[in-house]
Amino acid sequence: MNDWSNYLVFGGYPYVAFAVFLLGGWLRFDGEPHIQPDGSGRLLSRRQLTLGVTLFHAGVLILFVGHLVGLLTPIQVFESVGISHSFKQSMANVIGGTAGTVAFIGLLLLLCSRLNESRARPPSLFGDVAILLLILVQLGLGLSTIPVALAKMSSGCEALPLMWWAQSIATLKPAAAAGYIAGMPVIFKLHIVNGLAIVLLFPFTRLVNIWSVPAWFLSRWHNPLGQPSPVG
Ligand code: HEM
Repeated sequence: MNDWSNYLVFGGYPYVAFAVFLLGGWLRFDGEPHIQPDGSGRLLSRRQLTLGVTLFHAGVLILFVGHLVGLLTPIQVFESVGISHSFKQSMANVIGGTAGTVAFIGLLLLLCSRLNESRARPPSLFGDVAILLLILVQLGLGLSTIPVALAKMSSGCEALPLMWWAQSIATLKPAAAAGYIAGMPVIFKLHIVNGLAIVLLFPFTRLVNIWSVPAWFLSRWHNPLGQPSPVG
């Protein structure tokens, strides 16, 4: 990958993905959950579905917090509380690896439930299955970074450019960000590119409910009878 394509992919594309995520989420957000009744409650194996949903959500929640803390916290903060680079890297591998495996198994169960019912599945659900497949690939890529990290980054120092990349993107320094990622192993690059694709597509899929379902419940809780609020 030459300098320009590296800059476009790791310096420019993250901003496009997050802009679409914010703008698309805002435009599509109308306070109502975009859930199409697909008969899954009736059709799918309830046990498999419940187990899959629980494992998937538990794993992804831990990964989400882990990514936020692990990538966006300046390394000086870890150092100041006595967490060494190698310990931080081991934590990423162990906690992230376990959460990733749990989420992967949960997602496989979910996908099996959906695909087993494919004959009864309305075509409108294609997008839902497609985004789940993209997340499955993302989990696979994330888990594949672990052997590489174990082989090449055991001191933790070699993984610092990944944090610096994320922090440079967050602080609007795209050129520096692209520079940090340029020399990293390709599996990390693939994971980042696919992760940003999920961010980009987020507002156009069922994932948008992560925002609208809580808002919908909050508005109901505020106004349980659904009556219009008094004006003036
Ligand atoms: C823009 C989005 C994302 C970025 C930039 C990103 C970045 C990264 C990076 C840099 C690592 C390596 C951490 C290290 O070894 O120090 C990693 C690991 C990992 N990621 Fe992501 N990721 C993203 C989204 C996701 C998503 C959506 C999932 C799962 C649904 C995921 C699952 C994993 C897993 C399982 C690992 C391996 C365990 C770990 O180190 O935590 N990632 N990710």
